[in-house]
Amino acid sequence: MDTIKAKAYGKIILIGEHSVVYGKPAIALPFKATQIDVEIKESKVSLIDSKFFKGKLDEAPELLYGIREMIRRIFEKYKSDRKFVLTIKSTIPGERGMGSSAAVSVAIARALLEFLGVSYKNEDIAQWANISEKIVHGNPSGIDVSVVSNEMSLYFIRNKVKEHFPINLKAYLLVADTGIMGKTKEAVRDVRNLVIKDRAYLDNIDTLERLANRARQAIEAGDAVKLGQVMTHAHQNLQKLTVSSKELDDLVNLSLANGALGAKMTGGGRGGCMISLYDSQNKAEKAKEELLKNGAKDCWLLYLEN
Ligand code: MEV
Repeated sequence: MDTIKAKAYGKIILIGEHSVVYGKPAIALPFKATQIDVEIKESKVSLIDSKFFKGKLDEAPELLYGIREMIRRIFEKYKSDRKFVLTIKSTIPGERGMGSSAAVSVAIARALLEFLGVSYKNEDIAQWANISEKIVHGNPSGIDVSVVSNEMSLYFIRNKVKEHFPINLKAYLLVADTGIMGKTKEAVRDVRNLVIKDRAYLDNIDTLERLANRARQAIEAGDAVKLGQVMTHAHQNLQKLTVSSKELDDLVNLSLANGALGAKMTGGGRGGCMISLYDSQNKAEKAKEELLKNGAKDCWLLYLEN
């Protein structure tokens, strides 16, 4: 049998991370500069070949428990005991708020369903990938899997709204990686503990809701300046929720000092990536150079007009 190939891209949350867990809106977009590629080939024993682990599927370590469980459930549903070698290659840095775990699950689910001769829709893939994400992240809102499986920008409210929302703006978005592994599961858990302990933190969640809606209005009005202000304001609220880090704050401040219209952390935080917005390519390129000289491990530039 031929090798089956599938891929999935990363994602970037423009606004609404963490508050999205509490049913507030978020806006996110696919991040096509990075991707996961998987290959599946029939074999006598089921094996995984990845950067993190090479060996028998049954012996895959905790890091891959989510994927193991998703695979087990797919084979159970389709009553198959076929064996395979699964090769995973990634250019999405792991645990950096770029949706690498969602993308791995989506790419594997796509490849496995094809391997089993099952036709599928994006929603089926999202359902399978969420099995893995629940194990990896505990209480995911589902935004990562939704954006990654649909490959389009979304305005998203947990279990309610999954609306294609075009982000068409004359502006440049810089994505900068601190190089530090984020800790989404812990960050989501800690925010939950803060909110339970002190209801004042719910004000930050409510503010993030208002900011996500303002970001939507700014994008619809083509107002990059407004969107930038909203992003920086969102970052301040995420700082109060304790999910930023010194490295993220440094990159935010450096971006703002180098002509950004606004800047914020993106994704789970406590490491991972920062995004900043510019009204010209020249400013964005200059800021990129500064960030790379001062701590960013990698930077990508996206033009938001399409
Ligand atoms: C992670 O990419 C985004 C968070 O809001 C968690 C979630 O939505 O599941 C931090």
